[in-house]
Parts: sequence; structure tokens; C-alpha cells
Amino acid sequence: MKIIDGKAFSQTLREKIKDHVTVIKESANITPGLAVVLVGEDPASQVYVKNKGIQTKNAGMNSFEHRLEEDVSEKVLLDLIEQLNQDPTVHGILCQLPLPKHLNENLVINSIDPNKDVDGFHISNVGLLNTGQKSMVPCTPLGCLMLLREYVGDLSGKKATVIGRSNIVGKPMFNLLLRENCTVTVVHSRTKNIEEICKSSDILVAAVGRPKFVKGHWVKSGAVIIDVGINRVSITENGIEKSKLVGDVDFEATKDTALAITPVPGGVGPMTIACLLANTLVACCRTHNLAEPQELVL
Ligand code: GUN
Repeated sequence: MKIIDGKAFSQTLREKIKDHVTVIKESANITPGLAVVLVGEDPASQVYVKNKGIQTKNAGMNSFEHRLEEDVSEKVLLDLIEQLNQDPTVHGILCQLPLPKHLNENLVINSIDPNKDVDGFHISNVGLLNTGQKSMVPCTPLGCLMLLREYVGDLSGKKATVIGRSNIVGKPMFNLLLRENCTVTVVHSRTKNIEEICKSSDILVAAVGRPKFVKGHWVKSGAVIIDVGINRVSITENGIEKSKLVGDVDFEATKDTALAITPVPGGVGPMTIACLLANTLVACCRTHNLAEPQELVL
């Protein structure tokens, strides 16, 4: 069984991005810029945003961070997004989710210029992806697809099951796999025979946010598993309580049956940030009519 090394793969991807950034800086005198908006103090979001900022700068891009108070009004947030939409030094805008409850998430996402929507969450990017047109592709599913292409090769005709139906992962993953000519099933909390469906799948993408949800006996021999889950759980080791990260898949129980699986951490997680950088570079190239790096565009 192979461990799919998302960390190594993402590093290669980030190096390619950095090289391309250098080229456009030198040839066109343009530096791609990513603006990240964080509302409130959610600890997990703060870690993500900090990492995004560091990696954006490491890739040679400009990073703009905007932090707003938890109780910020919708108008202040929308005004900031409009200012970023108009700013020519900003090529990508990401508003970290989830937003505090008093803010209308759909309204906020749809106020981002679709050409700068590096998350691919704007309704027009969702529609473009759904109809097989050129769009911004959500980072996590894009990273999963890159890993699958690398480890499976041609995906055509494969039976793929996506576990989870979120707008961020499940639905765009369904569209991407369909575009690769997979036969795709989406299962979720109300699905009656999840185990049976998983058992007959060549590819499993688990994105439910429930620790070790996918059991060893659900996995077909030779399947390739992409585990999107990042769940913090408490464990007791030598009488000491600790916390650790586990995926949505019972890694130990599946690793003898599966052909390949992504670990947590070190699988999909690092790919998501690398794909965010890729999307920022692509957005910059499209805005300025520069050649897009072919290996980063679907
Ligand atoms: N929160 C969790 N995942 C994501 C993501 O991919 N993009 C944004 N904006 N927020 C998130």
C-alpha cells in the first residue's frame, strides 16, 4: 500500500508556481497578490490564514491580510471586499469561512469579483464548473484531483464515491470527477447503504468531518482513498491526555486493503494551500492576458 505524499507533491507544485511568478515578475513587472479576509477569532481559521500568508510570500507573491472584529457589520465587510475588487494589486480574494452567524455568507461570497474568486465559491464560478466551462476551481477538490491524477492516472470509467455534499468539497469534487469521466456517486448522512456503495468504488473521497467515519471493511481491495477530513480528537497515551489530528477514514484499518491512501496530516491539507497559490497565479495571468501555466489549469 502506498501513502500518497501530499506534502511532497505540494512542495513540487509550490516550486513550479514560484518559478512562474519569477517569470512574470521579470517579463511583465507584475507581482501576483492575494488578499485574505478573516472575521473574528476562530482558532482554526487563524492558523489557516497565518499559513496562507507565509506560503503566499514564500511563492514570491504579495500577501494582504485583513482582520475584522467578530461583530463587524455586513456593510463594513462588503465595503472592504469592494475595495479589494477595485484594487489592481489584488488578483485573488479569499474570505475565510465560516463567517460569524450574523453575516450572510452567500451574499459576502457573491460580492467578490468572480475573476478574483480564488476559492471558486462565487455562484458564477460554481455554474461555470458545473457546465464544464473555464472557471476558478475550489482549492481542496482541485488538490484531490491532482493527487488522483498522479496516483491513478487515467480516471476514465472509474467508479468514484464522494462522501459528503458540502459546497466547499463534495459538490465541486463530484463535478471534477464527472469531468474526468468517472461514474460518480455522492453519499451523505441520509444515505441508506453507504457501506455497500463504498465497497464497490475504485476511488473514495471522504469529506464528512467525522473522525474515522470510513471503516476498513467498507473499502474495496485496490481502491485509492483521498481523506479530506481534519478532525482533532483526544487520546490518552501513558495516562496523559493529548490531542491529535485524524481523518475521516480509519487509516490503520484500511491501509492493508487500499492501493493508496492520503495520510492526515500530510495528505490533502498541504495541497489546498498550494492550489490557492495556483489559483492566485492563474487569476493574475488571466487579468493581465499572460500565458497561463498549463500544468495548473484544468
Ligand atoms: N474554510 C475551510 N475551508 C475553506 C476554504 O477552502 N476557503 C475558505 N475561504 N474558507 C474555508
